[in-house]
Amino acid sequence: METPVIETSNLKIEVLPNLEALSHRAASFFVAASGNSIATKKRFAVAISGGFTPRGLYKLLGSVPYRDQVNWQHVHFFWVDERCVPKDHEESNFKAAWDSFLSSIPIPDGNIKRIRGEEEPGKAAVDYEEDIKKYFGISELPVFDLIILGMGEDGHTASLFPGSKLLKETIRLAVPVYLPKPTCNRITLTFPILNNAAQILFLVAGRSKASILSEILGDREKKKRFPAGLINPVHGYMTWLIDQEAAERLRGLKS
Ligand code: 6PG
Repeated sequence: METPVIETSNLKIEVLPNLEALSHRAASFFVAASGNSIATKKRFAVAISGGFTPRGLYKLLGSVPYRDQVNWQHVHFFWVDERCVPKDHEESNFKAAWDSFLSSIPIPDGNIKRIRGEEEPGKAAVDYEEDIKKYFGISELPVFDLIILGMGEDGHTASLFPGSKLLKETIRLAVPVYLPKPTCNRITLTFPILNNAAQILFLVAGRSKASILSEILGDREKKKRFPAGLINPVHGYMTWLIDQEAAERLRGLKS
C-alpha cells in the first residue's frame, strides 16, 4: 500500500501506519543511505538520537536482514546528544544503542565515538567537539552523512529545548545543557552542525506529538517557536517519517 507522501526539492514527509512500519521504513532508509555514502565517500558518518521512538529502528539494524545489508566497517557512529551519566547507566543514550544493536554488529570499536557522559559536562562537550573535528579532519563545519532526530512533546529535538539560549549558539558544535534536578544534565550537538548534515531523518510517532507536528510541518511562522522547527538543512535533504497518530492533525496527508 502506498504511504502518503509530501515531497519537495529538499523535504519529504512520509506517513506510516504505525511505529513498527515506521521502524522498518527507517531501517531501509538507513541501509540505502549508508550504501550510497560508502559507495561515493567510502564512509558513512551518522549521528543518532536517544529516546523511545528510534529503538525499533536500532533493534532492526542489529537483526537480519538489515544487519547484513550494511557495510559496518565504513560506518562511524556519533551521538546527537547524551545524558551526563556513566555509559552503563539506564539513562545513557550510548547504552540504549549498545544494547539495541551496537553490541551485535561487526563494527570496529574505533568507529564508535561515544560522548563521555561520565565527565564534567563542560569538558565532555569540549572533548566531543575535538573528536568530531579529528574525525572530519577539516576546519570548516563538518558534514554528517546522516543525522537521526526525534521530537519531544514540547517540540524539542536533540537536547535543544524551547526557550534555551543554546538555540542561538552559532560557533560551538557541542555544548553542555544544565537542567534542573532530578533531570540529568546533557551534552548536545548545536544547530550549526545539525543543519549542516547531508541528510536529516526525523522519526516521530504518537498522538501526543500531533498538535506540535502540525504546526512544525504546516505553518512557516509557528514552526519557529519549536527547536524541531528550526531544523532546516542548509544544503542537505530532510525526511520526516511519522506514524498515523502523529500525522492526524496534518491537513492533506493521511495514511
Ligand atoms: C534524547 C533524544 C531526544 C528525543 C526526544 C524524543 O536524548 O532523549 O535525543 O531529543 O529524540 O526527546 O524522544 P521520544 O522518541 O522518546 O519521544
